[in-house]
Amino acid sequence: MSDSCHAANKLWPTRLGAALMMLIVVLPRGAAGQETAAFFKQNCYSCHTIGGGRLVGPDLKDVAERKERDWLVRFMLNPQAMIDRGDPYAKQILGEARGVVMAQVAGLTRDRAHLLLDLIEVESALEKSQFEGVKFSDRPFTVQDVETGLQIFKGLTPLTNGGPSCISCHTVRGLGLLGGGRLGVDLTKVSERVGGRKPLSAWLVSPATTTMAPVFKEHPMEPEEILSLVAFFEDSAKRVGDDNSVAPLTFFLIGLGGMVLVLGLFDSLWKDRFRAVRRPLVSGGEIRTDA
Ligand code: HEC
Ligand code: HEC
Repeated sequence: MSDSCHAANKLWPTRLGAALMMLIVVLPRGAAGQETAAFFKQNCYSCHTIGGGRLVGPDLKDVAERKERDWLVRFMLNPQAMIDRGDPYAKQILGEARGVVMAQVAGLTRDRAHLLLDLIEVESALEKSQFEGVKFSDRPFTVQDVETGLQIFKGLTPLTNGGPSCISCHTVRGLGLLGGGRLGVDLTKVSERVGGRKPLSAWLVSPATTTMAPVFKEHPMEPEEILSLVAFFEDSAKRVGDDNSVAPLTFFLIGLGGMVLVLGLFDSLWKDRFRAVRRPLVSGGEIRTDA
């Protein structure tokens, strides 16, 4: 074999390396950049803006100036583990998020976490990021909104784009029903839990849980439907107030086999609650000023 051939062979890996380097440098702004932006939109935007204020999670603008990159990557890959370790910064941001832990994001790898942090850095430097936040109507909720939300929740009014009814997986106390699905969480106080109207609305645009994300990605909800559901959840949180005792006691009694007794008890209990709830709903039309 000739020397020149040797040289050419040796050059190959170097050229390949250089080409790869070029790709890595150029791509974040090109195809991979778009892919990363799409990933952010689908998996992070429901809880984070970049420069639009906090939602369920903190505003990520300039997050790299608050904490070193290695830490952020480790946190993003396994938020709960960082919190369990008693890390003081993790505890601080957990406190600021009212105790809501960032869920582990499906499909998030170390490389992708770095690309996302690159994206956040680029977007932070812009005067106006494309992730500044979805704009929602902030008109006051009406009793009609609450009623529509209830109907959507129960599946009596189907979602425009074919999403499943909430009650197949969720419960809300005070509905006059003994619970909905067992799979999902109790949403009675979800609006308080996630920090109010804006974070909850943003969350519902692309629900970021392993169970809901794949379904609602294909069947997203309309802004008006989200508004009604949020009106309903705010109302349900207010209605129940600080009374957390009903559900656990109910299940305890059922566990004891006191079915008949419970049903009798419930009948009068729910009737009272129902009347209190229903009266303002059916009187209809007036604008709630306390929302
Ligand atoms: C379900 C809501 C939710 C989703 C979805 C979510 N996060 Fe978070 N994120 C949070 C919360 C809440 C915190 C604050 C820490 C805590 O309470 O766990 C947080 C914290 C962070 C932090 C640290 C912020 C700081 O101020 O130091 C980064 C970085 C972050 N998230 C990035 C992401 C990225 C990137 C995605 C998408 C791949 C994502 N998050 C998806 C809720 C979420
Ligand atoms: C296929 C079952 C399913 C359906 C249908 C469903 N959800 Fe969920 N949802 C879940 C599960 C399960 C969780 C808990 C998080 C997880 O484990 O993925 C959840 C979580 C939530 C949360 C966040 C709760 C929290 O405290 O963080 C909200 C808000 C929510 N769902 C609203 C809705 C609404 C509104 C509908 C109807 C339009 C709906 N869900 C329909 C399964 C479902």
